[in-house]
Amino acid sequence: MNATPNASSADNIREEIARLKKEKNALIMAHYYQRDEIQEIADFIGDSLALAQQAAKTDADVIVMCGVNFMGETAKILCPDKIVLIPDTAAGCSLADSCDPVEFEKFVSEHPDHTVISYVNTSAAVKAHTDIVVTSGNARKIVEQLPEDEKIIFGPDRNLGEYINSVTGRNMLLWNGACHVHDRFSLEKIAEMKKQHPLAKVLVHPECRRPLQLIADKVGSTAVLLDFATKDDAPEYIVVTESGILFEMRNKCPEKTFLAAPAEDAECQCNECDFMKLNTLKKVYEALRDGKPEVNVDPEIAEKALRPIKRMLEMSL
Ligand code: 13P
Ligand code: SF4
Repeated sequence: MNATPNASSADNIREEIARLKKEKNALIMAHYYQRDEIQEIADFIGDSLALAQQAAKTDADVIVMCGVNFMGETAKILCPDKIVLIPDTAAGCSLADSCDPVEFEKFVSEHPDHTVISYVNTSAAVKAHTDIVVTSGNARKIVEQLPEDEKIIFGPDRNLGEYINSVTGRNMLLWNGACHVHDRFSLEKIAEMKKQHPLAKVLVHPECRRPLQLIADKVGSTAVLLDFATKDDAPEYIVVTESGILFEMRNKCPEKTFLAAPAEDAECQCNECDFMKLNTLKKVYEALRDGKPEVNVDPEIAEKALRPIKRMLEMSL
């Protein structure tokens, strides 16, 4: 029987992860919303776009995707011959869940003259009904490559869709979905914080509601917000996205102050994604040790979903 090596010691677990990684030629990838201790040991951390790009080019035999299920699925679709592991299969996504594949297919079939753009935060089954996948890091760039009069369906995040409509002047037809983390930030709480920190710049993820996008100094994906904070010269930032990103912001800019924005109904001073936080260092170790849970995607769906993901990668160059 496999036992956790002296599970009380985080150092031991880190050592075992490093040993197993070498033995299995594994790559540990982590999204910026992962717990600090996972970002610390990851070989690669990034936003959804960078994780997909990295999965597409790695020569590792095993990918451990520390994020949520759709990220594991995207990696598996891009690398069908590799073993893709996720630390916890319960790591879903409320945004992906707000788009039922059967309902989405019906919506698409009701608008046959539309190009279908889906956010990467969707199930493989939704991607299979999609023409082009996008992330928050490349959505604008991809939409702008389409002819101005192209009719477009955009799903499932209505806040990101509204943002892309506003910056591109398009009138995309939006699916009414949202993320339970980003949709819970309130203008009132951020305005209050801004009063107390007048020099702070406000960084907003486009999955947040429109009024928050409008007061932002910068709207962008996690990688875009991180890059902005690194190059900008303000001393302080109010970060309106899942608070895991603060780990890398503080690493990259130790001299600056990053303040997590609370959810509108929160007691605490931040806003966390319960799904992202399901992954722990111990679960990463166990996944590597046992070679499970493994991500598998129905081959027929995977074949259909690969086309729009590849189109995204080509259009992001
Ligand atoms: P990005 O890292 O692509 O900005 O995505 C945010 C997100 O909500 C992932 O679940
Ligand atoms: Fe999904 Fe929102 Fe969590 Fe991102 S933060 S994984 S969109 S539920």
